[in-house]
Amino acid sequence: MNEKAVDKWTKHGGFRSFLKCATRCGVKITVLSKESHVIRLGYGGDVAFLKGANAPVMRRMGNLTRNKDVTKQILEDVGIRTPRGIVANSIQDAIKAVKKHRMPFPLILKPTHGSRSLGVTWNIRSEQDLRDAFSSFEKIKREHSLKKDTVLVEEMFVGHEYRVLVLNGRVISCVQKVPASVIGDGTSSIKKLIGAFNKTRLRGFKIRLDAIAENTIAENKLTLDSILPKGRILRLRNNLNMSDGGRSIDVTASMHRSFKDLCVKSTEVTGLSFAGVDVIAKDLSRPARRDNYVILELNPNPYYNMNEKPLAEGKGTDVSFLLLKQLFPNIRKK
Ligand SMILES: Nc1ncnc2c1ncn2[C@@H]1O[C@H](COP(=O)(O)OP(=O)(O)O)[C@@H](O)[C@H]1O
Ligand SMILES: [Mg+2]
Repeated sequence: MNEKAVDKWTKHGGFRSFLKCATRCGVKITVLSKESHVIRLGYGGDVAFLKGANAPVMRRMGNLTRNKDVTKQILEDVGIRTPRGIVANSIQDAIKAVKKHRMPFPLILKPTHGSRSLGVTWNIRSEQDLRDAFSSFEKIKREHSLKKDTVLVEEMFVGHEYRVLVLNGRVISCVQKVPASVIGDGTSSIKKLIGAFNKTRLRGFKIRLDAIAENTIAENKLTLDSILPKGRILRLRNNLNMSDGGRSIDVTASMHRSFKDLCVKSTEVTGLSFAGVDVIAKDLSRPARRDNYVILELNPNPYYNMNEKPLAEGKGTDVSFLLLKQLFPNIRKK
């Protein structure tokens, strides 16, 4: 299998990166069953067999973390802070529980079994907003044939958002997610800055000049031809998605020991040998306290492209190669 064939074989961004890294390192990949989606990896007389798009790691209890509420209960049980919230399966229950627990607005609503932010509503500021949020969850549920019908309504925690990767009880990468933005150099127009940024990005991860970006520029009383002063950061949209030009900054080196310990502990207690931990914190380089962070969820088979070059800004971690070494300890980079 060559790199082109890899793109056809799987849509999973992390697994794609893994297989491409394997081919570059001289691993021979052959399809054993297209139907069952099983491949064979061969290197220096050793073989390994992989099914689906799962990273080659032990995953004893991966299913445990599919339910974000269960994850939260487990983490809280061992003293790890998660967002305060309630679970409901009807709008009436949600309103009742929010009142009973005197949860202050703004709130956030998300499916207990969601992913990729599907069905999430941010910044719920009134009972009517909550009703609307529940309706849009139900719409998404129908459109995507989601089976589970429970939602979490949570406090909206304010801070920076991080994705931490833990492999075998060790933090291997931490990136801070930043919305699509450009930084002025005192001579280039916004248009030019966006163009230069996009040159560094892979297809599918560039800043798009759509209505949202154009509105944001206008709201800042700027145009595409305006020259940004040196050092001024212009945010072009609010969401953090890499596919909308969102950026990820490698902050592994400055991550405080206490946060590393929390992330590792969260994977140990949920039985995951490889996971992406979603953290919101005021500052990950300072000691963790009960009031300065929350862990949102654990992803047992994460997309990790944002932790690798070229998406990660800064050093980046070669996650795929670390995973490959799990299978073939003697493998070398070519
Ligand atoms: N309690 C919360 N406070 C603030 N933001 C949140 C909270 N819960 C979720 N979010 C936001 O919603 C996004 C999706 O939530 P998450 O729990 O990671 O679910 P998933 O990624 O599976 O859709 C997060 O990346 C974060 O931006
Ligand atoms: Mg998430």
